[in-house]
Amino acid sequence: MRESIWWTVSIACAVVMVLLLSLHMGIMHLAGLLNVLGLNLGDVRAFSAVVARGKNPVQMVVYVIFLAVALYHGLYGLRGILLEVTQNRRWEVTITGLLFLAGIAAFVYGTYVTVKTFTG
Ligand code: HEM
Repeated sequence: MRESIWWTVSIACAVVMVLLLSLHMGIMHLAGLLNVLGLNLGDVRAFSAVVARGKNPVQMVVYVIFLAVALYHGLYGLRGILLEVTQNRRWEVTITGLLFLAGIAAFVYGTYVTVKTFTG
């Protein structure tokens, strides 16, 4: 039961990634199509637009959310693969602990770099 909750979280993370990547593709690469549909976002890839986004706290939060969901999903998936190696309980606890620590470290470092980039 508990395992299926972690698995559901991982799938939810994948859904969030699909939503954020779709948003990215729509805004950054399908501006022409959006324009035809009546939504003119201007030149989203102009240097001034890039600089403005680089100071936007919403963009910063979205980056951190993406970091969190990609890390959880990727590391949970990797854990699943590594647990296939053996059924040993000690191996399971060790792998889970190591990946948990790696995830926390990557999240803290990634968030630090993101916040520094946006506010520095
Ligand atoms: C839009 C992006 C993504 C979607 C929709 C997606 C979706 C999925 C789904 C549906 C599964 C199968 C889960 C299951 O049935 O147990 C899966 C597994 C997995 N994903 Fe993703 N994923 C995405 C991105 C990523 C990224 C960026 C990574 C790596 C950083 C990643 C790493 C993995 C791993 C390692 C597995 C486990 C594979 C296995 O058990 O053989 N995925 N993903």
